Amino acid sequence: MNRIEQLPDILSNQIAAGEVVERPASVVKELVENAIDAHASVIDVLIEEAGLKCITIIDNGNGIEADDVSLAFSRHATSKIRTKADLFRIGTLGFRGEALPSIASVAELELTTSTGAVGTHVVIKGGVEEVHESASARKGTEIKVANLFYNTPARLKYIKSLPTELGHITDIINRLALSHPTISFRLVNDGKSIIRTVGNGNLKQVISQIYGLAIAQKAKPLKISTNDFDIQGYLVLPEISRASRQYISTIVNGRYIKNYALHKAIQEGYHTLLPIGRYPIAVLQIEMDPLIVDVNVHPSKLEVRLSKEKELGQVISRAIKDLFKTERLIPAGPESKQQSQVKPVNDQARFNFDAISGTTRQYQPEGLAMAPLHEEPLSQEKPLTDDLNALLEQTIQYGDEPIETDVTEQGATAATLRAPRMAKLYPIGQMHATYILAQNEEGLFIIDQHAAQERMKYDYFRVKIGEVAHTAQSLLIPLVLDYPMDEAVRLQEVLPRIREIGIEIEAFGQGSFVVRSYPTWFPSDDVEEIIRDIVEDALAHPKVDVAKFREKTAIMMSCKKSIKANHYLNTEDMQRLLDDLRYADDPFTCPHGRPVVIKYSVYEMEKMFKRIM
Ligand SMILES: Nc1ncnc2c1ncn2[C@@H]1O[C@H](COP(=O)(O)OP(=O)(O)OP(=O)(O)O)[C@@H](O)[C@H]1O
Ligand SMILES: [Mg+2]
Repeated sequence: MNRIEQLPDILSNQIAAGEVVERPASVVKELVENAIDAHASVIDVLIEEAGLKCITIIDNGNGIEADDVSLAFSRHATSKIRTKADLFRIGTLGFRGEALPSIASVAELELTTSTGAVGTHVVIKGGVEEVHESASARKGTEIKVANLFYNTPARLKYIKSLPTELGHITDIINRLALSHPTISFRLVNDGKSIIRTVGNGNLKQVISQIYGLAIAQKAKPLKISTNDFDIQGYLVLPEISRASRQYISTIVNGRYIKNYALHKAIQEGYHTLLPIGRYPIAVLQIEMDPLIVDVNVHPSKLEVRLSKEKELGQVISRAIKDLFKTERLIPAGPESKQQSQVKPVNDQARFNFDAISGTTRQYQPEGLAMAPLHEEPLSQEKPLTDDLNALLEQTIQYGDEPIETDVTEQGATAATLRAPRMAKLYPIGQMHATYILAQNEEGLFIIDQHAAQERMKYDYFRVKIGEVAHTAQSLLIPLVLDYPMDEAVRLQEVLPRIREIGIEIEAFGQGSFVVRSYPTWFPSDDVEEIIRDIVEDALAHPKVDVAKFREKTAIMMSCKKSIKANHYLNTEDMQRLLDDLRYADDPFTCPHGRPVVIKYSVYEMEKMFKRIM
């Protein structure tokens, strides 16, 4: 066995770099976070070849004191925490004092910084300081990282294609911009501008600059405060959804974090409004006491531990549900979707890689002189016009008429004491025995009859299942269900849950179970099939809690009991269905998240027929 020896600094920094600097995007993240911690209001990120050749970050922050510059590159040297108590109250993005030494150990690094007085310029190669001199520079910091991983070939090999790396960098800047609307960010790759935000503090404008105006216009603000949390942000109407969770941003105390539970809570808030497998676009900024946030759990500080995660999740889900309850969520016909003329500056899913292999390098900060910051971020580039805010405030109108509050005879069903959620519709006819065409002074409406009824039945069953039947219907001949032993054992465990929705079921020995009664509101025609389905579902998802189980049961029953497509309805049937639909909790989507109603406004139709231009 060899003797134990202390590793030299350079080697231990390189080892640390293995965790801290995974790819070019990690360098960008660490350096931009440093600029944010230094209170910069303008941050430029200039990269070449997706950051592999060169990454330059220029900020107008506080700068580093001349005497501290060398120290900044030694491990565990930080200005951000001092004591153990500080570690539990982290208010900055950095705190470990690891980023700069790690980056410097695996690249060629050049830094020019000033606090406003005499500046400093250093050049460090592979962790060794080669130049250290004074420089006159304006307040702020410019840091250039070239030839990343030149001395760690294994890591270089692991790097993916340039577009992939650029995608990661873009994603990082998008999230940082969403987390800090008061900072103006610019990302330029090989001379081509990819992201530009204004930095005027308006989160909706940042959303517009990142995801495009059309999406920002459909983003609804959310603001709630509880004893523990202040939450604000924007949630895009469910008519626009995405195939991945990538468009959900959760920000805790200014730090973008990945947190499964919070993502789940947001999805839960949209539940039944989005089709299965689709995800919302949402940005939530959450402020809470740093004492209940542990950021010291992950090398890239992307994951945190929240001691009140569950409570926070509940607050978020509830708030989103409430938000969409007050919205009228009828998607417009295809014509109006093309209305937005302003293109997004960049979109996480589709930025332009044209310039990646090109040789244009307009932006090449050289030597000691600090390259100019983009002082006036909006001056040259459209579409960030002054009108943007006005455009953003133009909400999509579904009709000018206020929602009626009177209750018509026909609409007088169980739910009629509430105000209707839609204006009254009058049937024109039925198409393919599947869709109801209807009208009112706002325009033409197309209603999927199955989805409409499914929604109403769902609301009905959801309430009923929640009530836990006190009135039970006995089965004349008790229903006996037989299961193989392994399932029978599992079924024993979920019996209480099945009983919670009012089905009296008990074990009968040797894999048999007997059902003696069921709630009176069960549809009488296929009681047995429904009970079997409920038991099967409970077996298939033994971990699901009672609330979720009730909901799934309601969805299953509503689907079974709804009129199917290919079912002829007369005018009275249609009118009744339309009237009832107005009083549904959420008439706009079925419990599976598919749309129930599509609308063509009079205006859109006149446009389509070129009656107006
Ligand atoms: N752009 C900057 N402007 C001003 N000071 C900076 C800048 N970048 C780094 N510093 C200073 O250098 C120190 C070291 O930076 P480094 O990123 O290595 O550590 P950190 O930010 O403190 O912690 P972490 O490793 O978690 O990022 C910082 O604490 C800060 O004082
Ligand atoms: Mg840092």
